[in-house]
Amino acid sequence: MARMDGPLTVLGLESSCDDTAAAVVRGRDVLSSVVWGQTELHSAFGGVVPEIAARAHAEKIDICVAEALAQAGLTLAQVDAIAVTAGPGLIGGVLSGVMCAKGLAAGSGKPLVGVNHLAGHALTPRLTDGLAYPYLMLLVSGGHCQFLIVRGPQDFTRLGGTIDDAPGEAFDKTARLLGLPQPGGPSVEAEARAGDPARFAFPRPLLDRPGCDMSFSGLKTALLRQRDALVAAQGGLHGQDRADLCAGFQAAVCDVLAEKTARALAVYLDEAPNAPAFAIAGGVAANGAIRAALTDLCAARRVDFVAPPLRLCTDNAAMIAYAGAELYAAGQRDGMDMTARPRWPLDSGAAPLLGSGKKGAKA
Ligand code: KG4
Ligand code: ZN
Repeated sequence: MARMDGPLTVLGLESSCDDTAAAVVRGRDVLSSVVWGQTELHSAFGGVVPEIAARAHAEKIDICVAEALAQAGLTLAQVDAIAVTAGPGLIGGVLSGVMCAKGLAAGSGKPLVGVNHLAGHALTPRLTDGLAYPYLMLLVSGGHCQFLIVRGPQDFTRLGGTIDDAPGEAFDKTARLLGLPQPGGPSVEAEARAGDPARFAFPRPLLDRPGCDMSFSGLKTALLRQRDALVAAQGGLHGQDRADLCAGFQAAVCDVLAEKTARALAVYLDEAPNAPAFAIAGGVAANGAIRAALTDLCAARRVDFVAPPLRLCTDNAAMIAYAGAELYAAGQRDGMDMTARPRWPLDSGAAPLLGSGKKGAKA
């Protein structure tokens, strides 16, 4: 029998992109969080191959679930609900998780809760830091880039987002153009440390336009042009050229994110929240320069800056289990007719985001 009092214990499943994951969360305690990454499976292709991803999710999701329950020291009978990412993402992968969760729910009689992957990221600071609503969130990864005012588990306002590439995607492409290893973020950041950000001119896209929308694909084009000019002039790239290009690119991403964050903060602070807080999630949140720029910005505005630990910032199932618990507590129950959704914007009132990205739909 599931306990009827105390914090909810929820099993979460995640398979919307290139990580197969399962986790058990009780209240704000992560009892287990198993993540099976697929990076090697896709590394030869320069992006996530949806068919390969879907097959690997279907093979691994049951194993992840069994492992997550074992690590938590629980059986399925001891959880209160089963939460699963029902979108947005690569549809084959989302389906693998949804079908597995439906099977588990049907077999165990446990309630099923479909979770929006972006809500999982957006609610993570509540899991890790117990952040109170409303807070401002910047989701910034290889697949996502958007500002959200988070007011509740089903109450989000999107203030803006990328109209083309996500920043992580831009870091990955930059690394590829310069022959640096993937994932590109850490390699570009390491190179940038020895570089001069002012040597090459990089644009600051969309800063001349009002609002919080962003664009990062032009930075990669600028980098390509600078690289080709150097190769034409000197027959190749020197180590210092590479470092300077990385530093220039990273400084441009930083400036754009900082300026757009300042604008999003102004909108959020207009609501006069009691304890204003700004949280980041996604793999790009690991970047030291970006983190420092955003930390300074928040300090200057007396806004609490929250950066959850990276393992919970990148794709994982603990965030899905936690979001599932909040949704379950709010009364959400899904049936066997629940669908997997390739696109599923958190804020249905906001203008749709363009592009689908190398890691699937952005919203
Ligand atoms: O959240 P995540 O693990 O996966 C999804 O995108 O779903 O984010 C991965 C992205 C990659 O594009 C990677 O290059 C980027 O995060 N990343 C970084 C850094 N570490 C990871 N970008 C910039 N600087 C970093 N230190
Ligand atoms: Zn994600």
